[in-house]
Amino acid sequence: MKLNTIIYEKRDAFAYITFNRPKVLNAINREMLDDLARITDDLRRDEGIRAIIVTGAGKAFIAGADIAAMRDFTAAEGREFNLYVQQQINNLENLPVPVICAINGYALGGGLELALACDIRIIAQDAKIGLPEVALGIFPGGGGTQRLPRLINNGYAKYYIYTGEHIPAQRAYELGIVQEVTGSGDLTGRAQEIADKIAKQGPIAVRMAKRVINEGANLGLRPSIVFDSEAYATTFATEDRITGMTAFLNKTKANFQNR
Ligand code: CAA
Repeated sequence: MKLNTIIYEKRDAFAYITFNRPKVLNAINREMLDDLARITDDLRRDEGIRAIIVTGAGKAFIAGADIAAMRDFTAAEGREFNLYVQQQINNLENLPVPVICAINGYALGGGLELALACDIRIIAQDAKIGLPEVALGIFPGGGGTQRLPRLINNGYAKYYIYTGEHIPAQRAYELGIVQEVTGSGDLTGRAQEIADKIAKQGPIAVRMAKRVINEGANLGLRPSIVFDSEAYATTFATEDRITGMTAFLNKTKANFQNR
């Protein structure tokens, strides 16, 4: 797959997505969205992948959508571009296996919105995140107005969206936006440790857990509990369930076969 704006690698049971337009702090343009669409399309079909790590090349994660490209958009083009941003962020969120977002530097605007669609976020101690769009006369259109208030206290979400203030890594952790702050040099190693740990678990169980968490969040409690129990029943029908339980009883490590 030839890509110009993202480095896409697979090693063992893992996929690595590295946004790669470092001269503009990995700002998102149409080409990057095209590249991301091709990657998520590939990943949806790859049953061997157990976890995905997303990060940025150079000193930023993603400093948002490409302002230079957007400035001369007509209103219709702006709408169309925003729908494309949302669609690709949704595609990332809907990937069947966990996506770990390693925020190595600025994650602003569309960059943070993309990070919010990942399953687990960790951040380097000197990185900063934020939704500064109101300074540009727009507001966070890539899902930030919806995902951030669902993740943290509504008043804090509004505070950061209305002021556009940057959020330092430690504060992002205190607010619950990220799960861990790491030393700058430790970020990718720690992301890999989390991915390794996930890969040791029952693969169907992990995929099912992700599905019920994500789908359930869009349902009321009663239907989500019903959906949950149906998905749970399917894990009981897997060979991996026998493997996992037998290994526990035999005090050995489970060798899951993904079936
Ligand atoms: N779009 C286009 N170019 C960008 C960019 C962006 N979002 N962010 C940074 N760049 C470019 C800069 O223009 C600069 O280019 P030149 O070297 O040609 O001047 C280069 O990347 C390096 O950036 P800075 O010199 O500004 O670096 P800095 O360290 O001084 O500041 C920063 C870093 C605080 C991230 C600053 O670049 C910044 O504020 N960027 C814009 C952040 C932003 O507003 N993001 C929201 C975009 S809108 C959006 O995302 C819409 C949406 O909802 C989907």
